[in-house]
Amino acid sequence: MRSTDECINILGIETSCDETAAAVVADGGVIKSSVVASQTQLHEKYGGVVPEIASRAHIEKIYPVIAEAMEQAGVTKEDISAVAVANQPGLTIALVVGVTAAKTLSFAWEKPLIAINHLHAHLQSAMLSEVDLELPAVALIVSGGHTSLFDCRSPLELTLIGSTIDDAAGEAFDKVATILRLPYPGGPSIEKAAKNGNPKAIDFPRSMLGPDSLDFSFSGIKTAVLYHCRGQDMKGDNKVDSMSEQEIADIAASFQAAVIDVLVNKTQRAADKIGAKTILLGGGVAANSTLRQALQEFCDSTTPSRKLLAAPKQYCTDNAVMVASLAYHKFKAGLFADLTLEPKATG
Ligand code: KG4
Ligand code: ZN
Repeated sequence: MRSTDECINILGIETSCDETAAAVVADGGVIKSSVVASQTQLHEKYGGVVPEIASRAHIEKIYPVIAEAMEQAGVTKEDISAVAVANQPGLTIALVVGVTAAKTLSFAWEKPLIAINHLHAHLQSAMLSEVDLELPAVALIVSGGHTSLFDCRSPLELTLIGSTIDDAAGEAFDKVATILRLPYPGGPSIEKAAKNGNPKAIDFPRSMLGPDSLDFSFSGIKTAVLYHCRGQDMKGDNKVDSMSEQEIADIAASFQAAVIDVLVNKTQRAADKIGAKTILLGGGVAANSTLRQALQEFCDSTTPSRKLLAAPKQYCTDNAVMVASLAYHKFKAGLFADLTLEPKATG
């Protein structure tokens, strides 16, 4: 029998997109292992994630990745209290690999199964080390597939209050990087190029969608970059090939500045609306230093000032630590799934 001072070890599994990940986290915050097998090289030549290739790679990697996470953590199945898996949202044929693995282990090991929403897990990664979190909080989750604002009352009480009506912020970074012929994945490439550029060089549009809207739209700015490089009628040559490094850097910096302006402005609106004491930041785009700095400046500028909790950079992009960490709260609340659990594209 488990003694009361024993810790709750949760095995987390994540396969929603192009990262096969497993982690063991104790008591929601003690990271015992984190293993991530990235598929970046497989998708690089296509300039984006190809679902079938992602799914096949997950199948190859899932058990080695889980075995490594268990070994690094120095635990056996007897030490595991529950198996948690991100089952939504994401690419269904990618999610199904993690869900099947988690259901199999839950059944074979006779351990409870916990279903995790991938976006809520990104939000949790901003709360990994926080002991006295002041609530309510506004959470900005910016990834390759989503741009979402949540009203957060506790790790399990999350209400979606804004989201993108077209492209996600990360998707816009990736597409603009392709236009500028910068390497995949686009976000880090744009950030790198932007470091040498002038963010005021080009006045790209900031789509605010009306004075009260908490939704986002990034397709206009992506098109504006395309027109800037190809001309309004799209009939001209792609000027990118003949542009200097400085011109590319200026476009990257101006694009990044416009996206960040929108993200900060909408976060500010949401924070004012719900009287947020804390701003949480997570998702792949949260690794962007200029975004982190801009949100920090916003938090410092308000009276009273707000606290920014940004996910540690290594836990911004997809990982399983965030899955296992959030699962701890569900474990404590007795919120378990059963073997009928299915992957879901939306959520
Ligand atoms: O959260 P994530 O790993 O996967 C999804 O759930 O989508 O996010 C991946 C996204 C990609 O679009 C990538 O270009 C973007 O995050 N990203 C960045 C940076 N690092 C990753 N975007 C801007 N700046 C970065 N430094
Ligand atoms: Zn993600």
